[in-house]
Amino acid sequence: QKHFNQSKPFAGKKILITAGPTYEAIDPVRFIGNHSSGKMGYAIARSFADQGAEVTLISGPSKLEPPSVVKEFIKVTSAKEMLEACEKRFPHTDIGVMAAAVADYRPKTVATEKIKKEEKSMALEMEKTTDIAKTLGKIKAPHQLLIGFALETNNEEANAQQKLRNKNFDLIVLNSLNDEGSGFNHDTNQVKIFDKNGLRHQSELEAKTKIAELILEQIAQL
Ligand code: CTP
Ligand code: CA
Repeated sequence: QKHFNQSKPFAGKKILITAGPTYEAIDPVRFIGNHSSGKMGYAIARSFADQGAEVTLISGPSKLEPPSVVKEFIKVTSAKEMLEACEKRFPHTDIGVMAAAVADYRPKTVATEKIKKEEKSMALEMEKTTDIAKTLGKIKAPHQLLIGFALETNNEEANAQQKLRNKNFDLIVLNSLNDEGSGFNHDTNQVKIFDKNGLRHQSELEAKTKIAELILEQIAQL
């Protein structure tokens, strides 16, 4: 069945993308973070915008320049700030793409003064952050799509499909960390894309810009 705008499936669509790491404060000068560069999420944001979509990019701390083509760029620091920005906007969104590497735990209390070194060892009590993707998955309406990512080191395919079900994703993109040149801080990536019925697409090792296009192709098919 041909549709008149089949060639521009994302024109005018509202897209919400999370990208980059989150930083969880320990005290005024220290935080817990991760090595996410934001490259994959920013590439996806650029691809959608290039196809005429209205993109909101919510990014944790990243050295990357915000793509000039995105409609709204929101810089956040912590998982809590990212959650609040997402909850506010997701109801007005057609497609959510959860590419951020969100901290799973944060320090239970943030010291107001710089922590001094005293004892021979010290422990930091941590509490779970809210799962942003799962929160959005719960409020997802039938017309909305939600896309997630997974990074696994073992049982990767089973774990990815479990995450897809658990978070109510329509697609999940599994990053291979086993291969040279994929994942954090690389310009290239290799992915497998699953829906609830199983594997839909398996990529070669490609530039993240190319991977972004492959992901958009898979989303367009939905
Ligand atoms: N995610 C999120 N909010 C969190 C944690 C994860 O939105 N607090 C999203 C990520 O952006 C990604 C997906 O959930 O799209 C899977 O993240 P991942 O870290 O692989 O899974 P977790 O559910 O956190 O499980 P674990 O780290 O224990 O494997
Ligand atoms: Ca996690």
